[in-house]
Amino acid sequence: MIRTDILIIGSGIGALSVASELCKYNKKITIITKGLRKACNSSLAQGGISVALSDEDDYHWHYEDTMVAGCNINDADAVMKLVSTAPQVILDFINTGMIFDKDSTGNLAFGREGAHRLNRIIHAGGDRTGLRVVEQLLRNITTNVNIVQNEMALDLRVNNSKCSGAITRSFKTGEISYYQADYTILATGGIGQLYPSTSNDITITGDGMAMAYRAGCKLKNLEFIQFHPTMLTINGKAYGLVSEAVRGAGGILVSDKGEKIMEKIHPQKDLAPRDVVAREVYARYLKGEKIFLDISDIDNFREKFPTVTEICEEHGVNVDDKMIPVAPGAHFHMGGVEATPEGVTNIDGLYAVGEVACTGVHGANRLASNSLLEGLVFGKLLADHIVKTPRKAEEFEDKIPESKLDRLPEKQEIQKQMMEFVGIVRHTGKIHTIIDWFEKFVPDKNFGKLDIINTDNEKLEIYNMLTAGWLIAKAAESRKESIGAHYIVED
Ligand code: SIN
Repeated sequence: MIRTDILIIGSGIGALSVASELCKYNKKITIITKGLRKACNSSLAQGGISVALSDEDDYHWHYEDTMVAGCNINDADAVMKLVSTAPQVILDFINTGMIFDKDSTGNLAFGREGAHRLNRIIHAGGDRTGLRVVEQLLRNITTNVNIVQNEMALDLRVNNSKCSGAITRSFKTGEISYYQADYTILATGGIGQLYPSTSNDITITGDGMAMAYRAGCKLKNLEFIQFHPTMLTINGKAYGLVSEAVRGAGGILVSDKGEKIMEKIHPQKDLAPRDVVAREVYARYLKGEKIFLDISDIDNFREKFPTVTEICEEHGVNVDDKMIPVAPGAHFHMGGVEATPEGVTNIDGLYAVGEVACTGVHGANRLASNSLLEGLVFGKLLADHIVKTPRKAEEFEDKIPESKLDRLPEKQEIQKQMMEFVGIVRHTGKIHTIIDWFEKFVPDKNFGKLDIINTDNEKLEIYNMLTAGWLIAKAAESRKESIGAHYIVED
């Protein structure tokens, strides 16, 4: 048994925000991550952080924009906590040495993204914000934080609704570890790899949500999956995100006939809410039209968007030609493990932060650049909560069930089915097809616990994808109206 005060599963901004606060209290902290420590969605985030810090802004407006984007089904108190705490958290973060981009007068430069009423997004290194934030948080954590790489959490250790840690297995050696922790934090990100095109890291296969479900956690709003309208896409294959900040800086979506496709669709045109833009791009894409982001009006594109430039050029698209081929891809899960802004779940000792958590801040559709913010702010609130809440993990013997898996689908098959039945548009009469499809692969139709010790990491990832997909499809089937990212067609 490996003893640690705090076990954090995942290594993105939520995880590092908690760790960088708690390490001040001399706690023993262990972070386990499936890949290398910077391999997470946060490192790939290009957009930035939205925060009402400019002289023209007011956090009440940030609150209103967040609620409108979320179709007003957001948890209003959680949104208010996020936007009102954000300015101080960001200023404190800057004081630790974080450098955000400045304008020509030396003040913070504020960029624009969809559904924000004014320029409110701060960036670092142009479109390298997520990576720069991760790097700064890594610098801020001290030696009592042990980051264990290439290790997968197999299951949470839960007895009588009390969590005492997790069981893990190394990808390299196959060694199984039993962690005993007073506080266990899920920070595993979302579910992007359940879809064929995604902006998410390769490790993001819905493990946190599936483990939480097996542990008896309440889950919420699972049907709400945000598709980003502009992934660099060549011959149907996605190669990475082309940030919405590109449209914020003047990029325009055009068809292969030169038509500005958002012109007649929404008053905010290219900066309309993400679900609206994604649906329009996707509808045309399905008709066989090629869609491009026309960047002719953006000066110094390479300097402003080094990551987008790099991704394009790695895949043979010259940004000097001013046309980037795009199509939508799965980007962010608004739903997840039901949690308060402090990360508290219905399981004692188990917490959730970042995309895996559903605190209700995003409602039915997340406002752009609110997710890095959520990780930073709610990560800090979770750390404060832990400091004020003494807890000792219970000792118990883990019971591993005997249930085994035999025939499993390939990951690509799951991705194809998810896009078809619970993708950008959902056909009410057909969602049941995918629920039945999932169930035929497993002996236990409720996707319960299984013999994780004798199921290898690859198979367990597939089981987690099936579990997460099944839960999403069931949530989509029971939400009978179109709202935000859940768009249905009755047939
Ligand atoms: C983007 O850069 O377009 C993504 C920003 C976000 O999802 O918040």
